[in-house]
Amino acid sequence: MPSTAIIGTGFHVPDRVVSNAELTGLMDTSDEWIVERTGIRERRWVREGESGADLARRASEMALEDAGCEAGEVEAIVLATLSPDHFFPGTGVFLQRELGLAGIPSIDLRAQCSGFLYGLQVADALIRSEQYRTVLLVGVEIQSTGLDLSTRGRDMAVLFGDGAGAALLEAIDGGDRGVLSTHLWADGRHAETLWAESPSACRHPYVSAADLDAGRHYPTMDGRDVFRHATRRMPEAVETALEAHGLAASDIDLLVPHQANLRISQMVQRRLGLPDEKVVNNIERYGNTTAATIPIALAEAVRAGRLEPGDLLCMVAFGSGFTWASALVRW
Ligand code: UT7
Repeated sequence: MPSTAIIGTGFHVPDRVVSNAELTGLMDTSDEWIVERTGIRERRWVREGESGADLARRASEMALEDAGCEAGEVEAIVLATLSPDHFFPGTGVFLQRELGLAGIPSIDLRAQCSGFLYGLQVADALIRSEQYRTVLLVGVEIQSTGLDLSTRGRDMAVLFGDGAGAALLEAIDGGDRGVLSTHLWADGRHAETLWAESPSACRHPYVSAADLDAGRHYPTMDGRDVFRHATRRMPEAVETALEAHGLAASDIDLLVPHQANLRISQMVQRRLGLPDEKVVNNIERYGNTTAATIPIALAEAVRAGRLEPGDLLCMVAFGSGFTWASALVRW
């Protein structure tokens, strides 16, 4: 049975930088509050006319170039997002069209902040089952256009950013390299703890003026509850992954946690007993880009020379659903 190797990574973020200071002009917040509670100093937001498919294409092109591959070598696309360009069809087909890959399958996947790792399990299964040799896995998000930028929405608005990250995955001959395992979990009992109620196909109609007036299209969150669950589930998810391979936290060479809040990542780091140089944090510059945080952080870590062949890479995520996930990769 083949294994799945990550042979290229890439990312793209909009060029519009939105500082904490800029947000203080829109809502009652402060740079001190945002930095102290979240670690975020700035994020990137799209300009009008930029689409998720555009961000995804640029990230994908960087991953292809990194791998030394042509777009035509991609045999399937798996794209994770909670903010599709359109209700349907999914952003995956728009990306496929932009890459000129008519005919290959394109799977859209919704697992919010865990989307990239859910996608990794799907892509890994497609490769191990020998249906496809080369799969493009993308996490992309445009959060900024859906945020309540008034003081009412400040708990969410200061957290989120836009961006895309991509990984090119390829079948390699067995051995102990590549994706060692992926573990996924979900608990829909918490679905409304972090969600967007509208637009909704079970409302009559999908979108109404009353929904807009009530702000039901804005995402809402019980931040403390999400925080409490994230700081428990993320270390557990890593420990489960390590136990499956008889490994210990000290075997991890690089941890790429979902970038939800610097305080969450630091608590995960402490619980695992990892030194700073083994943990990737870039939330300071990009905020939380949901399904894109892990592939963006991974692409940056690769470019910074933080992964050597043979290193043990661990990725872990937690988010809306709740969904959570971990993955181990022998680089
Ligand atoms: O990707 C996964 C999904 N998201 C997460 O993982 C997020 C998890 N949760 C968090 O990161 C944190 O809960 C937040 C950063 C969202 C909030 O931090 P917190 O330390 O839990 O603050 P809090 O919700 O307990 O609010 C404390 C105070 C409140 O005021 P009062 O009631 O104490 O007067 C809030 O109204 O801070 C207020 N507040 C703000 N103040 C200034 C909330 N948002 C802001 C803001 N600026 N942006």
